Amino acid sequence: MAEYYDPATYPNEWNYLQPGTIIDQYVIERELAHGGFSSVYLARQREDQIQVAIKEYLPRKLAHRTWNNKVVANDEESLRLFQCGRNLFLEEAKVLANLKHPSIVEVVSFFSANSTVYIVMTYDYGIGLDKMIKQKKMKVTLDFLLTVFNALLDGVEKIHQHHFVHLDIKPANILIRPGYNPLLLDFGAVQAFPEVAQKQRSKVVSKGFSPVEQCHGKTQLIGPWTDLYAVGASIRSCMEAKAPVSSVERLKKDTLTPAVKAFKRKFPETFLKAIDWAMAIEPERRPQSVQELKQAFQLLTEA
Ligand SMILES: Nc1ncnc2c1ncn2[C@@H]1O[C@H](COP(=O)(O)OP(=O)(O)O)[C@@H](O)[C@H]1O
Ligand SMILES: [Mg+2]
Repeated sequence: MAEYYDPATYPNEWNYLQPGTIIDQYVIERELAHGGFSSVYLARQREDQIQVAIKEYLPRKLAHRTWNNKVVANDEESLRLFQCGRNLFLEEAKVLANLKHPSIVEVVSFFSANSTVYIVMTYDYGIGLDKMIKQKKMKVTLDFLLTVFNALLDGVEKIHQHHFVHLDIKPANILIRPGYNPLLLDFGAVQAFPEVAQKQRSKVVSKGFSPVEQCHGKTQLIGPWTDLYAVGASIRSCMEAKAPVSSVERLKKDTLTPAVKAFKRKFPETFLKAIDWAMAIEPERRPQSVQELKQAFQLLTEA
């Protein structure tokens, strides 16, 4: 039976693991971020004092923490979905543990505790690209965009080479480290490509960054080009400091001014063309591989 749960009287301190909590071989230091599906903590390995980032599976719509830190389903109906999501979260960890690349967050280990799952990652110091853009502390130059996105695309290519697609590339999932060195985070939506078996998973859609095939759940049309739309949209959002109009709206009536027009004279035409190419509404009209998009950028760096 699910335990009594009333969101109105739920103690605030149960929302997150408190500083000092010991979990596996780590001590929680503080919470770094929380979203609808998980919480991320800064923690320290007890033995050698190395700092790590730990991501905890805690889908707020389905489950909550109780007095002894155990995570339990909110009600009987949520239980199956919670368990299903927990398995997928574990898959995210396993995929990541095998994907080593300088632009991809490094998974050190993963473990089950408190009836949920934890992913231990190398802690990287940086600022989210979304925050960086919002704060407008720096001028978004061609040089900045090429530095960040060329390195990011190397990581994305690695994912594709392993027959996966990330499916949630957006500025909020890109950490910018010193030297404008990007790190791709959040493999919560990762999927095998081509998909081996049709799995029931909750659809992750990021408005403005996910292309139509993803929004409409046309899984058979999902591929590397799906990530490339998100990369194009991320670059564009850096240039105009807001998320582009959603692909679903664009499909009805495309109000997105092509980058070649909107940013004319601010950036080289070849670069703007490459962004427009990546953001084509129809999947087949986009670059089909990271290589193709990088080549379009390459023309620039070589010019
Ligand atoms: N390895 C890490 N090092 C530093 N910060 C991290 C790390 N992983 C996650 N974060 C921080 O936590 C936030 C949420 O992580 P993310 O994996 O995107 O989870 P969610 O699924 O909740 O969006 C990130 O935007 C980032 O600020
Ligand atoms: Mg995220």
